[in-house]
Amino acid sequence: LSGVITLDPGYKNSGSCKSEITFLDGELGILRYRGYSIEELADKGHFLEVSYLLIFGELPSTKELEQFETDIRKYTLVNEEMKNIIDGFPKTAHPMGVLSALTSALTAFNPKSVNVDNEKEMYEAVCKTMGKFLVIATWTYRKSMGFPLNYYDNTKGYVENFMRLMFALPTGPYTPDPVIISAIDKLFILHADHEQNCSTSTVRMVGSSHAGLFASISAGVSALWGPLHGGANQAVLEMLEEIHTSGADTETYLAKAKDKNDPFRLMGFGHRVYKNFDPRAKIIKKAADEVLATLGVEDPILEIAKKLEKAALEDEYFKARNLYPNVDFYSGIIYRALGIPTDMFTVMFAIGRLPGWIAQWKEMRENKEPIGRPRQIYTGHPLRDFKSSDKR
Ligand code: SDX
Repeated sequence: LSGVITLDPGYKNSGSCKSEITFLDGELGILRYRGYSIEELADKGHFLEVSYLLIFGELPSTKELEQFETDIRKYTLVNEEMKNIIDGFPKTAHPMGVLSALTSALTAFNPKSVNVDNEKEMYEAVCKTMGKFLVIATWTYRKSMGFPLNYYDNTKGYVENFMRLMFALPTGPYTPDPVIISAIDKLFILHADHEQNCSTSTVRMVGSSHAGLFASISAGVSALWGPLHGGANQAVLEMLEEIHTSGADTETYLAKAKDKNDPFRLMGFGHRVYKNFDPRAKIIKKAADEVLATLGVEDPILEIAKKLEKAALEDEYFKARNLYPNVDFYSGIIYRALGIPTDMFTVMFAIGRLPGWIAQWKEMRENKEPIGRPRQIYTGHPLRDFKSSDKR
């Protein structure tokens, strides 16, 4: 059972943790949520169903899933005063920065959610977060476009609501394409959890001080924003577009990625854990082909991505370092085909990762884990005497 890390007996919660939620095997490229393979869940599951699995530990019955969706709908209205906060941001603000701020602000309007000392309060905090986060995430896009902010429609499904919240305009009817809804549902599932990655560890760490769920998720959003983490999906598209506009061949960019004097890295390649193919990348690559074909989108960027991937996989430098495409390499290409703007790609990642963050925070609180306190190896000066300034 290689997924269980032995805890450091000398130091409680020193940074490693036990969890029953997600299992990864980086050598074999295996990813499972609560024992179910990511391949099966992406193929047969739906996002709210998989969210329920991650958060509560079992796949829901039809009745349980309906009740979960009903309970989320109780909290999809966001306090109108939150609009004053979003109005304080310039239109040019990056959506992830706005989302982190709005998520933290939810605490001000829902103070009770800080204490989740019983199952009922915990369940309410889970449903509130699932309901409100989706709405404020789409508000970041609407704000950047100068569009009016939309409301969740409790008669529609969760992922369809994402599309409506993002793109419906008061000037006319809006019916999202079911192909797009299905593709986004699958992408959200693929991003839903990933063991103790940077942002999830952040959520657990912040939550371990008994900060509320909104505050902990807000910290996770900030961690995910980084280009080495969730921000990579935006960086991949920017890299591919640069290759496309520069007309340079893929070898030029591989050489840059291998040049130790060049800070450039092949975005969407490499992983802290996977030293084989990221199983999500395989599924997303296949989905990219299907979605673009179904939508009749010819995207030269996809062809460049495939050429770059082929060249990198055949390159000795990349092979020697076990550098394979990760979840971010192809996801941006699908988002672009679905009409999602580039600076919203990482927000898409955050919406997908939300149930994983919630599940991990809930597990940490229910396990009554002590406050996080990673160990340190001190490498600074030994004891030395203070000298007055004229003697230094
Ligand atoms: C995510 O942890 C998770 O689970 C994260 C995630 C999730 O679902 O939450 O999977 C999501 O964050 C995926 C990763 C997205 N990031 C990127 O695509 C950014 C590009 N990738 C790299 O920055 C890097 O691969 C990391 C940050 C992802 C992993 O870094 P590591 O494991 O610390 O690797 P490293 O820096 O130790 O590199 C090992 C070697 C180095 O060369 P040497 O010093 O041995 O000569 O590989 C090289 C690195 O220079 N290398 C790369 C490279 N990634 C590593 N060289 C060129 N291009 C790259 N992308």
